[in-house]
Amino acid sequence: MTKLKIGICGWGNVATGLYEQLVGGEEIYANWDICCIGARRDNPKCNPGSTKILRDIFKVAEEDIDVLVELIGGVETAKELITLALNSGKHVVTANKAVIFEHGEELINLAKKNNVKLLFESAVCAGTPSIKMLSNDLTANKISKVAGMLNGTTNFILSSMEEGASYEAVLKEAQEKGYAEPDPSLDVNGTDAAHKIGILAALAFNSGLPASNFHIEGIENIQSEDFTYANEFHLTVKHLAVAKLNDHGIELRSHPVMLSKDSSLAGLKGVRNGIQFDTDLLGEFHVAGSGAGRESTASGLISDLYALSNSGESNPMQYPDFSKKPNLVKFEDLIFKYYVYLEVKDEPGVLALISKIFAGQGIGFDKVIQKDQLDNGNVPVVIFTDPILEKDMQIALQGLKNHPEILNSKIIRIEDL
Ligand SMILES: NC(=O)c1ccc[n+]([C@@H]2O[C@H](COP(=O)([O-])OP(=O)(O)OC[C@H]3O[C@@H](n4cnc5c(N)ncnc54)[C@H](OP(=O)(O)O)[C@@H]3O)[C@@H](O)[C@H]2O)c1
Repeated sequence: MTKLKIGICGWGNVATGLYEQLVGGEEIYANWDICCIGARRDNPKCNPGSTKILRDIFKVAEEDIDVLVELIGGVETAKELITLALNSGKHVVTANKAVIFEHGEELINLAKKNNVKLLFESAVCAGTPSIKMLSNDLTANKISKVAGMLNGTTNFILSSMEEGASYEAVLKEAQEKGYAEPDPSLDVNGTDAAHKIGILAALAFNSGLPASNFHIEGIENIQSEDFTYANEFHLTVKHLAVAKLNDHGIELRSHPVMLSKDSSLAGLKGVRNGIQFDTDLLGEFHVAGSGAGRESTASGLISDLYALSNSGESNPMQYPDFSKKPNLVKFEDLIFKYYVYLEVKDEPGVLALISKIFAGQGIGFDKVIQKDQLDNGNVPVVIFTDPILEKDMQIALQGLKNHPEILNSKIIRIEDL
C-alpha cells in the first residue's frame, strides 16, 4: 500500500466522520497523512488538532496532496472544485451523488485526460457496497433490474411513521443525527434517490447518465393511515428507486411504493438501505446496510482511499460507456397495481360515481373498503386496483377532480419485487 497524502474539503458531518475514523483508526491508516482540511469555518463537533486548515477550499487543490476528498455537497461549486483538483493532477474521492449525476461524464473524462482517478463509492448507499461492486464484481453478469431503497433519511422517516411517529418530528431527528442531506428537501422529494438510481443504471447497463426528466416523486404526502390500510393487506410503504430493462428500453423511476411485508427490502428499517439486483448468473442478489450517517459514509470513502493506495497505475473501477445514451421508456406507458385513497362527502351515490369513472378507463378493483366517518364528517374510501396503464390511471384521477363530492385523492403504486 502506497503512502497517501489526503486533503479534505468541507468540514460537516461526513468530513468530520471521515477525519475521526482516520485519526482514530487502525494500523491500516498509519501510512496515510491528512495534510490539510478546507473548512470555511470551525465545526464545534470536531477538533482537527494541528492539521493545517485552509479557509479557501480551492487552495486545498494546490497543496502537496495525492487525493482531494470533496465533501461540500451541492453541484456547481463542487464541480468547480473537483475540476480544479483533477486538472492539478490530484485524484478525487467524493460522496456527492448530485455532482456525479449532473456532471459525472465530464468529470470522469477529465480524470482520464489527466491520468488521475475519480472514485465515488459513498455517493450511493453511503458505505454499503454498490459502485465498485457493480463496476468490478458483477461484470460477468447481465443485469436486468436494480431496485433499491436508496435514501437513508426517507427510510428512517417511513419506518418511524410505521411505528406511529409524526413526519415532521422524524425529519428533525434525521437532521440532528446527520442522516439528512445538506438540503433535506432532496431526500424527501425523491431527488437524492433519483440521482443514485441514475448512477447505478449507468453502471448496470453500461450507458451514459440519464437526464433528470424521469418520474421522481417524494414521500411528502405519505400519512400514517396509509400504513394502517397497507397493513390490512400485509403491505408496507417504502420509497423505491428502480432501473429495469424492458423490451422498449430502460424503465427509470423514483417514488413511494407499497411492498409486500415478506419482501427483503420491506424488512429494512431506520437508515438501512437495500438494493436488489436481478442478474443472469447470480440470480436475484441483495445488499443491505446503513445508507446514511458519518460512520457509514466514512466506510465508503475509506474503501475508495484504500483502492487508490493499492491500485498503482490501474483504475480500481470500470466506468460506463458514456457514448451509449440511455433510451428511457415513458413512465405513462408502464403498468402498475395501485392503492388509491379518496376522501369523499358522505352522500349516497358517491361510490357508484367513483366506480363509473374508473370503469371508464378500464380500471378494475381488486378490493374496495369504505371506512368510518372522519372527524370532519367526510368518509375515506380505499381501493386496490388490478394492473393498469399509468396513463389510464392519470386520466381517471383527473376525472375525479371534476366532482365536488370527491375531496382528495392520492395513489401509491404497488411494487412486485
Ligand atoms: N450525511 C450523510 O449521511 C451522507 C451520506 C452519503 C453521502 N453524503 C454526501 O456527503 C456530502 C457532505 O454531506 P454532509 O452531510 O457532511 O453535509 P454538511 O454536514 O452540510 O457539510 C457540508 C460541509 O461543506 C461545507 N461547504 C458547503 N458549501 C461550501 C462552499 N461553497 N465553500 C466552502 N465550504 C462549503 C459546509 O460548510 P458550512 O458549515 O460553513 O456550511 C460544511 O462544512 C454531500 O455531498 C452528501 O450528499 C452524505
